[in-house]
Amino acid sequence: MSDIEINSILTETRLFEPPANFTANARLKMAELETLHQQADSDYEGFWAQQANALLDWHTPFSKTLDDSNAPHYQWFNDGTMNVSYNCIDRHLATQAAKTAIIFEGENGDTRHISYQQLHDEVCAFANALKAQGIKKGDRVVIYMPMVAEAVIAMQACARIGAIHSVVFGGFSAESLRDRIEDAGAVMLITADGGTRGGKIVELKQAADKALSKGCSSIQHVIVLKRSGHDIAMQAGRDIWWHDAIADQPSSCEPEWVNAEHPLFLLYTSGSTGKPKGIQHASAGYLLNAMTTNLWVFDLQDNDIFWCTADVGWITGHTYVAYGPLAAGATVVMYEGSPMVPDGGRFWKMCEQHKVSIFYTAPTAIRALMKLGDDLPAAYDLSSLRLLGTVGEPINPEAWMWYHRVIGRQRCPIVDTWWQTETGAIVISPVPGVTATKPGSCTLPLPGMDVAVVNEAGDPITRANTGGYLVIKKPWPSMVRTVWNDNQRYIDTYYAKFGGKYYLAGDSARCDEDGYFWIMGRIDDVLNVSGHRLGTMEVESALVANDAVVEAAVVGRPDELKGEAIVAFVICKGERPAGEAASAMVQALRNWVGEQIGAIAKPDEIRFADGLPKTRSGKIMRRLLRDIAANKAITSDTSTLENEHVVAQLQGKV
Ligand code: WT7
Repeated sequence: MSDIEINSILTETRLFEPPANFTANARLKMAELETLHQQADSDYEGFWAQQANALLDWHTPFSKTLDDSNAPHYQWFNDGTMNVSYNCIDRHLATQAAKTAIIFEGENGDTRHISYQQLHDEVCAFANALKAQGIKKGDRVVIYMPMVAEAVIAMQACARIGAIHSVVFGGFSAESLRDRIEDAGAVMLITADGGTRGGKIVELKQAADKALSKGCSSIQHVIVLKRSGHDIAMQAGRDIWWHDAIADQPSSCEPEWVNAEHPLFLLYTSGSTGKPKGIQHASAGYLLNAMTTNLWVFDLQDNDIFWCTADVGWITGHTYVAYGPLAAGATVVMYEGSPMVPDGGRFWKMCEQHKVSIFYTAPTAIRALMKLGDDLPAAYDLSSLRLLGTVGEPINPEAWMWYHRVIGRQRCPIVDTWWQTETGAIVISPVPGVTATKPGSCTLPLPGMDVAVVNEAGDPITRANTGGYLVIKKPWPSMVRTVWNDNQRYIDTYYAKFGGKYYLAGDSARCDEDGYFWIMGRIDDVLNVSGHRLGTMEVESALVANDAVVEAAVVGRPDELKGEAIVAFVICKGERPAGEAASAMVQALRNWVGEQIGAIAKPDEIRFADGLPKTRSGKIMRRLLRDIAANKAITSDTSTLENEHVVAQLQGKV
């Protein structure tokens, strides 16, 4: 048996049938779901062609659905032309111009309701402002903003004129921002004078200035939104205020009709090397699956208020805030700040106040709020909720049950949705009016998603509960198109393992006796910290970039709240730090990593030694380090260990 085929010991037997009254009103019932599956199975291309015609408005229709002549570079609907922003906004104006598109709430409590008509006008004005600054179709625009409505407006404005946006999460550091600007070759940066989170101002403009102070020579202009209102430096000739940029711009702007395959955005995500990958998505295919999944998984209906708590800096915020729900004509909630301000009841208070009907968040948030007890949620009227969702990592059954009981009041189905930055949209998930759920399982693939668990040879694993590689066997419309600037990495990462045949997700998984999927973890050197992906190599390269550090190895340790905590083993120049010098060094290195990557990458624990445990051939023994980090008994074979004494040091024994 190879490494990956491990038997799982986790057994979860509870089964939750969809509530009858949910099913009665659901978009998809058993029969409709079966029809979709049958159509996809019998005529794959025909199925997606039909969806694309039914759900998207085309400027010129497509004649070819899938072009696989240059596999694994697949093209979808490519001779058709369309515009994503038109599909998210304009096409709703005839029937629901006055409907609220976005309900925004700031951390300090300021709220704003933006109708589809207002959204149209603001997106158009900003699109015109971008054009006035020289932005053309195909230009890359980096968006580094707080979680405010203008972030979505900026994204939609880029889509409207065919510019390619790359949103950089506001929690990333100046260094991370610089790397992404440079890799994307961005000509414009859109930022703000600061956002508010946890009662503090996030100094985005200051970080942007730092990023632009070195390199970044492609950037010509910076547009700055006034949000926090505090003083910042503006560089004449380069920086312009958002309100000045739109001042004389008309509130209409003809959409740029682009080919279906025109790049819509880049989003950088961690992989198993030190350098994040610029995941490139295309226009029509992406939007199609953003829509199908909003309809099938979130059962979006006319009067729903949909709150996906993800920041637009992540793929979840792209697909389930900025694009999918708008394409479906829904109302979304956006929240700028921390779930803990003024206390851990903020989410529940907002659900009550805005009458949220669909709530989608991450297991790490659920666990953190669960720890605060049942009284906070009990204080609010959560009767508007009808559907709950989770994403980012496997949800532990305890947190699932709490979500079900205390938030859903045993009335709301829970959709545990598996997907990735690369898949663009949800791939495996319950369909809430149909699928019986099991806490901890993302259940079954959606229609048109050909997912399997395979062994080392690429053959399907038929034995229940045997782990293997999670793969997607057929291309799908919202799939990643390439890694920006590094097409070879696209091929190597996703298609090399099984000879170009299957898309390799990078997760291990198993199927149980009912065919339900259970995600077991990553197969590569990628950590999942609070539902966010971080490469161990990324943190390692940040550490070794520090003058005091000679060598570093980073591994994950299971963590009750964050899913995984980051543990770094560090070799310093000179003497191994001890006592106070060690504490000071830990502090300094944590801050350093925060500056290099962002606060989410700060190691939770740093241990010093004279060397790292290596095999005689010089390979770092990562599995051994993982056992040490988890304070577990060492199970790895240490007979090939070159330098045995460091193990005791790393265990903290000497
Ligand atoms: C990785 C993708 C896609 C949105 C958020 C993360 C893990 C995601 C689940 C889930 C178990 C999950 C996987 C995946 N993951 N959703 N429901 N159950 N694991 O996006 O940063 O691209 O990370 O997150 O390991 O590969 P991402």
